[in-house]
Amino acid sequence: MNFELTPEQREIQAVARDFANAEIEPHAAEWDRAHAFPRELLDTLGELGLMAVCVPEEYGGAGADFMSYILVLEELSRADAGVGVTVAVHTSACTLPILAHGTDEQRRRFVPLLARGAAIGCFALTEPGSGSDAGALVTSAEPEDGGWRIRGAKQWITNAAYGGTIVLFARTDPGTRTARGVSAFIVDTGDVEITRTEEKLGLNSSQTNDIAIDTRVDGDRLFGEQNHGFRIAMSTLDGGRIGIAAQAVGIAQAAYDVARRYAQERQAFGRRIGDFQAIQHKLANMSMEIDAARLLVLHAAWLKDSGKPHTAAGAKAKLFASEMARRQTAEAIQVLGGYGYTKEFPVERYYRDAKITEIYEGTSEIQRLVIAREIL
Ligand code: CAA
Repeated sequence: MNFELTPEQREIQAVARDFANAEIEPHAAEWDRAHAFPRELLDTLGELGLMAVCVPEEYGGAGADFMSYILVLEELSRADAGVGVTVAVHTSACTLPILAHGTDEQRRRFVPLLARGAAIGCFALTEPGSGSDAGALVTSAEPEDGGWRIRGAKQWITNAAYGGTIVLFARTDPGTRTARGVSAFIVDTGDVEITRTEEKLGLNSSQTNDIAIDTRVDGDRLFGEQNHGFRIAMSTLDGGRIGIAAQAVGIAQAAYDVARRYAQERQAFGRRIGDFQAIQHKLANMSMEIDAARLLVLHAAWLKDSGKPHTAAGAKAKLFASEMARRQTAEAIQVLGGYGYTKEFPVERYYRDAKITEIYEGTSEIQRLVIAREIL
């Protein structure tokens, strides 16, 4: 067992951390209020190779491993979780499934644009009537003129407002009502209509949209096996959940950093509040739980890089890290007291941002179901 990162992993982590500290974190509060970050940020992330960390160089990526990508997500999310989820969905929910399940032609056509951030990736599984029960989706794809007519509506699609590429799931077997009979398609954002921009509790700098689809796509837009696309959705989420777990660790780390600094400076009853055992215990618990979550995340990433099964490990990492982040960002507010509840400090934003990690890419209840299925 080796707990050291490789020199390459450390180097990529440092690139992401330095960039995030200099160019993201100082603007995060402003972007939270503005409900957007500048689009140019994604171009710069693309130039740094951070839009395609674990994409092979032959497709325009940085050619690093999945572990490096996970380290990058933690650093970006520590600075601004909205930027973190934008990169996470773009990479693990769009670029990676095309790489893993697309034909050579599809990989060459779509991945290089995604890798440099010229196209931004989305993942369209959820619908108004199907969230946790993703297999109940009703968006349909019917054969038309050698291609497919796709009709339906998708909800809470991260990144749809940016121009780019959507990995979209639709029912190709009208005789089914469950996960069977679903196929995966690659659709351009220009071929769908954005019907709504969601207002959220947190992650305000990221874009979340509802989309309506009534479009004909060519036959070469279907990828993977017809009627077996749900497997692609599930294996994509297996990796994506490790990314969301890393995001949760990044948010919790940011909250801990602020709480620790505050405890060393703030005076009460004639002493630094960090001299009181009540505050010390909070910081000790935060530090311990962040370490534990990070170990689960890195273990799941290592399993994935090793080509080993990682469904349950990813679910455990996401479940623990997300609940930890919600708990510990609340504790950070408590350490700061009244100041923590105001926008003078960023911990209230971390608390709002942390909550979604218990919901998207599978709720905590679904993670427990996935883990229990593996156990039983
Ligand atoms: N890997 C590969 N295939 C898998 C799999 C996995 N981990 N898990 C299941 N499958 C396959 C099964 O083998 C089966 O395949 P066949 O039909 O070919 O035999 C098929 O998928 C259906 O599997 P189940 O019968 O287990 O399906 P189910 O209906 O019982 O659902 C579920 C399982 C775990 C509840 C699933 O619906 C689920 O994960 N729900 C949560 C959905 C979710 O996470 N949504 C997130 C939206 S994306 C998002 O949030 C992005 C964002 O913006 C941040």
